[in-house]
Amino acid sequence: MAAVTDEEMAVVDTILEKYGLSESKLIPILAEIQEHFRYVPTKAMAHVAQKLGVPAAKIYGVATFYAHFALEPKGKFVIKVCDGTACHVKGSTKIIDALYEKLGVNAESKTTKDQLFTVETVSCLGACGLAPVMLVNEDVYGQVKADKAAEIVDSIIEAEKA
Ligand code: FES
Repeated sequence: MAAVTDEEMAVVDTILEKYGLSESKLIPILAEIQEHFRYVPTKAMAHVAQKLGVPAAKIYGVATFYAHFALEPKGKFVIKVCDGTACHVKGSTKIIDALYEKLGVNAESKTTKDQLFTVETVSCLGACGLAPVMLVNEDVYGQVKADKAAEIVDSIIEAEKA
């Protein structure tokens, strides 16, 4: 896991100041921290606790309560494969298996070692007419087949090398 630098901790300070060092703004504070780091680092939580004068366990409790917050670093590209009913019926499992195999990840260890990809499954993305659906960050791909999912990953890897 990448260490959080002092420079990055200054980012946390800026976020805290923006919210007036207010404990009542803890959720937006954690959300902005996550936006910056792509997860909520333990060191950042400890820093928030110290600055707000609240126990670190409380910050950790809030961060773990909300599924929105990731406590482990995610990849630069977060792939969300819908496994809601419509997508499941149309073969989402094959997409998930193909991505797991291609990227060497699984349901427990979702992020590639180079931290380029995270593969997650989600319930209905609200685009059932396009089933099976997958998202790569904000980009939506509909009627995806396993080989198409692998091609999308390949094109991202190629673009990253360029
Ligand atoms: S079930 Fe996948 S978008 Fe609705």
